[in-house]
Amino acid sequence: MSPGDIIMKKRLGQTLSREEIRAFVRGATDGSFADYQLSAMLMAICIQGMSPEETVELTMAMAESGERMDLSAIRGVKVDKHSTGGVGDTTTLILAPLIACCPGIKMAKMSGRGLGHTGGTLDKLEAIPGMNVGLSRQRFMEIADRIGVALTGQSAELAPADQKLYALRDVTATVDSLPLITSSILSKKIAAGCDVVVLDVKSGSGALMPTLEKSIELAQTMVQIGNRTGRRFSALVTDMDQPLGLYVGNALEVKEAILTLSGAVQGPLKQVSLMLGGQILQSAGLVQDAKQGADILESKIKSGEGLKKMAQWIQAQGGDERVVEEPDRLPKAGREIDLLSAQSGYVSALNTAMIGNAARVLGAGRLKKEDIIDPAVGLVMKKRIGDFVKAGECWCTLHVGAASDLNQARSLMDQALSLSPIRQPAPRLIHAVVDAQGTHYIEG
Ligand code: URA
Ligand code: CA
Repeated sequence: MSPGDIIMKKRLGQTLSREEIRAFVRGATDGSFADYQLSAMLMAICIQGMSPEETVELTMAMAESGERMDLSAIRGVKVDKHSTGGVGDTTTLILAPLIACCPGIKMAKMSGRGLGHTGGTLDKLEAIPGMNVGLSRQRFMEIADRIGVALTGQSAELAPADQKLYALRDVTATVDSLPLITSSILSKKIAAGCDVVVLDVKSGSGALMPTLEKSIELAQTMVQIGNRTGRRFSALVTDMDQPLGLYVGNALEVKEAILTLSGAVQGPLKQVSLMLGGQILQSAGLVQDAKQGADILESKIKSGEGLKKMAQWIQAQGGDERVVEEPDRLPKAGREIDLLSAQSGYVSALNTAMIGNAARVLGAGRLKKEDIIDPAVGLVMKKRIGDFVKAGECWCTLHVGAASDLNQARSLMDQALSLSPIRQPAPRLIHAVVDAQGTHYIEG
């Protein structure tokens, strides 16, 4: 079948065969489909959808389009986690060292950089002086095996079909399609080679999917498809209706992770990190339920093991591990500017995408692919939904650098804050847990 025939078949809403899906993915990898044919196919998939069988096929074809990591040299269960993208979402930096404290389980993870208004783990780790996130395969495996955690950048050889298709989706209005998002995320996770993957699917004003319903549907689709590929996938659907932590920006988020591991900081960021970690321990078969896993991980904070593991991990990847005891060694912004509230009221909403974009225009993220990040800049929230703010009170502090667009950051933050005379309850942190057994909605 020619590319045109395959596109026509999907355009008419018919089911594609394994060979047709493989031809499309090969076309994206070796150029045998032109960009306009790939784009037309993406639009047809977007509009007509795909059956579970087609989505599994697409996922596996994309996973096999490039290098597949063989992690068998690392002893124990290899685990990974993935977030669909958040703001102040530093859970990996907290749960990775805690998981590494548990015997028989290793976190060997490939991460990405910030995307849109969301932060990326690689950019955060690079805020630590000396930290190397471009490890060779051999070094990556050696550190994961010895320390229990290693984290490196995703190589260009991993799922090259996704890189091609993602770039086209980004500019052809075909990002928000369940089979396309599912195959994009899962193909990279499968090629990265872990046994157990926990997905953190965000919901709210800073999330990929616009509604809770859609976020749960995405979680269900990814878990269902993921578990048909021979790995253990599960997902938490968690809140992104406000930044998860209070700190947004690369060095700032590393600092919040360190403060959380040291036991000094409590709150939603810690809670979600522990629940995701607990879910990982359960999926790996080390505990009966996620709550029990979360308790074990919390005990690693209390004993100081987690913080010590963080230092070991940083040192193994060439970073200055003294930041763990002295977070002031992290890069610091030149200026701090308090944002004062014009009115009094209860915080009723925080537009999280706008807050992420404010950090981005300060220099914490990129507007163009080649932009250089300032690790020091960002912002620290002083208020969360449900808190009372008095007129003239500081509700957020901007950390500003030489290249920051301060006016735009101020304007975005102004728009992001909504006040009300009536107190709103805080949004629920965890909406649902999805695993092979089904979907468990969290009450309350
Ligand atoms: N992140 C990805 O890697 N792919 C998508 O399609 C969406 C978010
Ligand atoms: Ca992402």
